[in-house]
Amino acid sequence: MEPILHEWGSLLLRWAHIIAGMAWIGASFYFMHLDAHIRACPDIPAGKGGEAWEVHGGGFYQVKKYLVAPSFLPEDLIWHKWQSYATWITGFFLLIWIYYYQSSIYLIDPAVMNLSPTVALVIGLGGLALGWVLYDLLCRSKLGDSPAKVGAIVFVGVVAAAYGYQHVFSPRAAFIHTGALMATIMSANVFLVIVPNQHKVVAALKAGQEPDPYYGKTAKLRSSHNNYFTLPVVFLMISNHYPLTYSTPYAYVMVALALVAGTLIRYFYNERHAGRGDKWWCWAVSVVCLIIGIALSVTTTPAGRAALGLPALVSTAEAATPVEVPEDVQNIVMGRCSMCHTAEPMYEGIAVPPKGILLDTPEAIARNRDLILVQAVLTHAMPPNNVTEIEPADRAVLKAWATAR
Ligand code: HEC
Repeated sequence: MEPILHEWGSLLLRWAHIIAGMAWIGASFYFMHLDAHIRACPDIPAGKGGEAWEVHGGGFYQVKKYLVAPSFLPEDLIWHKWQSYATWITGFFLLIWIYYYQSSIYLIDPAVMNLSPTVALVIGLGGLALGWVLYDLLCRSKLGDSPAKVGAIVFVGVVAAAYGYQHVFSPRAAFIHTGALMATIMSANVFLVIVPNQHKVVAALKAGQEPDPYYGKTAKLRSSHNNYFTLPVVFLMISNHYPLTYSTPYAYVMVALALVAGTLIRYFYNERHAGRGDKWWCWAVSVVCLIIGIALSVTTTPAGRAALGLPALVSTAEAATPVEVPEDVQNIVMGRCSMCHTAEPMYEGIAVPPKGILLDTPEAIARNRDLILVQAVLTHAMPPNNVTEIEPADRAVLKAWATAR
């Protein structure tokens, strides 16, 4: 019962998270695009705004942008903030639901560091909070006046965080925490800086005063960071389903490559939409990043190394503590699952352990007990198409073991 409810919860949270994220990033792209197409119009002084005409869904829209106080401001302004908050909230609960509720499967890898669930929770959530505090201090410091310097420091900080996470959490959890760190900064930018500053500007305009340009300037710095984070963050989030990106010792390099490539592709479109030309070198550098990423995964996975005739890397994953798993369960899993779910899969066409799940030692089998229950007992998703011909009697043995509490 519980694993089924957990699967459903995970599916529904992920669904909500993706929808909220689409709405947020969609709105962000829309406003970047709109901003780049604002043209002069007669009733707004030059340099103080402009207008754009759009056609969509059977109607025409005339959107005006005011950089200074418009002659009147209606009460019912549309705020764009809940897309961001909803993305963070659903993402946060998804993180808790998957990584903290089942921390022994997803978060804690004894071969990396044998953390207790509580310590792992403190490191994980504390890291997100600390990341925001450091980032915020950086933006508020004197360096905040130089977007290029802030950008470079943020880049180094995120890669350093990825490196750090990699040495405390399981590879998959390390990657998602790096993504969550960036996403937390993005949402906190909206919640704690951009929206409050906009409220102050609106209040000043309503009082007939000139708003302090400081508010606009800081909001702009934060929102440009958010804009450049979008592509790398989405890459980190979905990479979690692709062990090639996160399961190598160079996962933090993958993070650096995703940051560079994602930021440059965003920059290309920002420049293009602003009419400053097509900077094709951005794509060229991104392709180089991609090639480096692929080369890294070829040279660090057993299948890739074998194809290149390189010696195998020494596996660090051999946990020492013996675990009690009944012999018949071990035999079934070793016989029906481990040809795919092992560091060097023997099954034709499988290059890395699917989803990073290893089922080749008693420890690994014990750790993945609930997943085995869901995938091979409650559903027959595994083995895929029953390629390894697991018998109903075998599933019954797995069931008896996996449901015994
Ligand atoms: C032919 C190779 C193969 C065999 C044999 C196999 N698996 Fe898998 N397994 C896969 C693939 C491929 C995936 C990834 C599926 C996907 O991407 O949704 C996977 C995914 C999984 C997952 C992760 C599911 C998730 O979405 O979190 C579990 C758990 C799992 N397998 C358990 C097992 C068990 C238990 C057995 C034996 C009874 C088994 N597998 C046998 C190929 C295999």
